[in-house]
Amino acid sequence: MPYKDFLASLESGQTRVAQKIGTDWQVNIEVKQKILEVFKNTKIVAMNGFRDKEALTARTFTEEDNVRMVPGGTSVRAGAHIGKNVVIMPPSYVNIGAYVDEQSMVDSHVLVGSCAQIGKRVHLSTAVQIGGVLEPIGNRPVIVEDDCFVGAGVILTEGIIVREKAVLAPGVKLSASVPIYDIINQTIIKGEIPVGAVVVPGTRPILSNNWAKEQNLSIACAVIIKHKDEKTSSATALENILR
Ligand SMILES: CC(C)(COP(=O)(O)OP(=O)(O)OC[C@H]1O[C@@H](n2cnc3c(N)ncnc32)[C@H](O)[C@@H]1OP(=O)(O)O)[C@@H](O)C(=O)NCCC(=O)NCCS
Repeated sequence: MPYKDFLASLESGQTRVAQKIGTDWQVNIEVKQKILEVFKNTKIVAMNGFRDKEALTARTFTEEDNVRMVPGGTSVRAGAHIGKNVVIMPPSYVNIGAYVDEQSMVDSHVLVGSCAQIGKRVHLSTAVQIGGVLEPIGNRPVIVEDDCFVGAGVILTEGIIVREKAVLAPGVKLSASVPIYDIINQTIIKGEIPVGAVVVPGTRPILSNNWAKEQNLSIACAVIIKHKDEKTSSATALENILR
């Protein structure tokens, strides 16, 4: 089958869409290009009751992979890397080029979009949606670094980076334009959650439009309410026995 070796290399983690160099994440444009080529150059065929691109069948796992994927509607597409001791609860979908590192938890109704990079020991709570990005080719995928806790229903898109140990409360929604009010450092940032920040959903008034001001309209933002402490760790401690 064409592209078999390329997909196997993505699955083993040897080839990655993005890599951390120092604190920067570098996008490997050739890899994204090649993923697009797979879509372009493979035909749609019937297989096991599905019809999809021939090369992009669902992944299967062996004892050696040491991944726990509970049956019931979950699919991990060919060309997605799943590290050892990852747990994937149904139904979830992990798309091509995604990288989910060791010991992470992918809870029910989670989407890990194409090329998204998820670190070690990350908890993706129920209904988390991580947007995918194959095109534009140079765009950075969403990145969630090691030891982050991503609360229920969080949505991350447009190349947002969540740095190590950050905690996102349920319902935080971030795209590149959403301002993040850091009340600890009294500053407004975009696109990146700092190491160990605890982020909750917030609202802000619209100041740029007088009519909106008169109407007392508010729109969504995110607020860094504190840094992760002992209390946060116990609020996000998980039932290890379920793993
Ligand atoms: C985000 C979270 C970890 C914070 O826990 P914590 O560190 O114990 O937070 P604290 O109780 O110290 O709260 C600090 C401040 O943030 C506020 N806050 C906490 N969680 C909030 C939330 N979800 N939304 C809005 N504000 C929140 C508190 O009211 C408090 O504000 P104050 O200082 O003005 O009183 C916790 O709220 C949480 O989301 N837990 C996990 C839920 C989840 O998704 N579980 C998985 C299900 S599958």
